[in-house]
Amino acid sequence: MERTLAIIKPDAVAARHVGAVVERIESAGFEIRAMRLVRLSQADAEGFYAVHRERPFFGSLTAFMSSGPAVVLALEAPDAIRRWRTLMGATDPAKAEPGTIRRDFGASIEHNATHGSDAAETAAFELAYFFAGVTLAGA
Ligand code: CMP
Repeated sequence: MERTLAIIKPDAVAARHVGAVVERIESAGFEIRAMRLVRLSQADAEGFYAVHRERPFFGSLTAFMSSGPAVVLALEAPDAIRRWRTLMGATDPAKAEPGTIRRDFGASIEHNATHGSDAAETAAFELAYFFAGVTLAGA
């Protein structure tokens, strides 16, 4: 079993796509081990995306991620990191496969509806960022 962090970003929450995204997560066979609605501060978003701090889009990305409520989830499945990234589709919705979450609900490379951890080490950091100190369901 593997765990990954998923975020339903502020664009998708504002567009009332939380239910649709969660439905896809459950239909794909993931176990939801934890789920929270959060409103990140700019500093929270900067800490979460610290690996991107040198990128030109860092300020815009962290402003967007702190612009409204987001939903963070701990997902569990065999090969969860890769499978969640496949379900989301490419970072840029215009390049994402038809039927993927980002293709269907994303508007741009920044407003791309969802986030997923990209490797085991980042998943551990990202899960702890939101769920440290919490015993996850099923643990
Ligand atoms: P995410 O999976 O959350 O990881 C980092 C985010 O940075 C990414 O999704 C995009 O939303 C954003 N991002 C990546 N590349 C760019 C870019 N070229 N311009 C703006 N935002 C970007």
